[in-house]
Amino acid sequence: MRSAVRRLVAGVSLAAVAFAVAAPALADDVNVGLVLPMTGPQQSTGKQEAAAAKLFMQLHGVTVAGHTIHLLLKDDGAAPDVSKRLSQDLIANDHAIALLGYGITPDALAVAPLATEAKTPVIVTAAATAMITEKSPYIARTSFTLPQASVPMADWALKNGIKKVDTLVTDYGPGIDAETWFAKEFQKGGGAVGNRLRVPLKNPDFAPVLQRVKDGKPDAVFVFVPSGFGAAFMKQFVDRGLAAAGIKLIATGDVTDDDQLDSMGDPALGVVTTHHYSADHDSPENKAFVAAFAKANGGMRPNFMAVAAYDGMDLLYRALAKAGGKTDGDSLMAAIKGQAWTSPRGPISIDPATRDIVQTIYVRKVEKKDGHLFNVEFQSIPAVKDPYKAAKAGQ
Ligand code: DHB
Repeated sequence: MRSAVRRLVAGVSLAAVAFAVAAPALADDVNVGLVLPMTGPQQSTGKQEAAAAKLFMQLHGVTVAGHTIHLLLKDDGAAPDVSKRLSQDLIANDHAIALLGYGITPDALAVAPLATEAKTPVIVTAAATAMITEKSPYIARTSFTLPQASVPMADWALKNGIKKVDTLVTDYGPGIDAETWFAKEFQKGGGAVGNRLRVPLKNPDFAPVLQRVKDGKPDAVFVFVPSGFGAAFMKQFVDRGLAAAGIKLIATGDVTDDDQLDSMGDPALGVVTTHHYSADHDSPENKAFVAAFAKANGGMRPNFMAVAAYDGMDLLYRALAKAGGKTDGDSLMAAIKGQAWTSPRGPISIDPATRDIVQTIYVRKVEKKDGHLFNVEFQSIPAVKDPYKAAKAGQ
């Protein structure tokens, strides 16, 4: 009798354990954090990414693998301490199963230790310094890396009669990556790098550095400024007479950002850039994306930030489906690694070894189409891995 009772108790407690383990997979409502700069100098990133993440849910539904997704949007103003506090709150109080966003590199770096400690997946959809994904095994990325965009620019310049280049970048992680990897590739191919100029992230004044470029008379200046600063840079480039002096502008696509390109006017015509996304990309997936984005947002044109947020949501949905609805960090990260699909930007995948994005980099030229300026793609380099991590891995 006693042993029968004991068996019964044992049976009940085993069932209870089984239920407790299975419960998260069956849970209905789950929170997902989206941490973005909705105010301040980086607000164009927040506006573009929030709109794209919402559009993804509008088009693909709010339910995946038995879960109803609640997207919690938080404004960090691009301040890393705020980014960290909001992320901590999303993890501890809202039990967010994943965090997306992070407008600038310092924000992504601030959240990395939290991701590791809480085993919460972080999908970086904006910040683009190469080493970010090395800071936690729970970080994956759907944006890009600056070395990924800058190396093809150097290759194009070498093949197109450009022999001497000055570099001009914003003085923090992504700018230093752009400068380093452009210069390394350009010099390796026999090109000469002159002045290496940097401007601060906060309140940059382009006038003095542009004067130095003008005085040095290089064939071209290679530029990186973060999303949202391209129009201000382009105005100074023209006002300071660099175009008139015959100095070519070459850049990563952050400068001819689709969010601002049409407002830059004719001075932007002919500028050659390398990047992973153009609103003009010619594919059925992109035509549908651009049309739906414009319709949902009063005619707004999506930029490279928007596509990264859209793909970040897509990655999360795909991972939840592949993990059979499991929401723990390890199951989700295992399901994130190796995902591959056709994004509006073209074919993309998540490198299982680095959790960083592998994608086509396009060479584009600013042209007018139906009275509007676009980055028109004319060359593509498929399946580009982040060169920084590829070099470390001896690839
Ligand atoms: C970063 C921010 C940007 O707006 C951009 O275009 C590229 C990189 C960054 O801070 O990592």
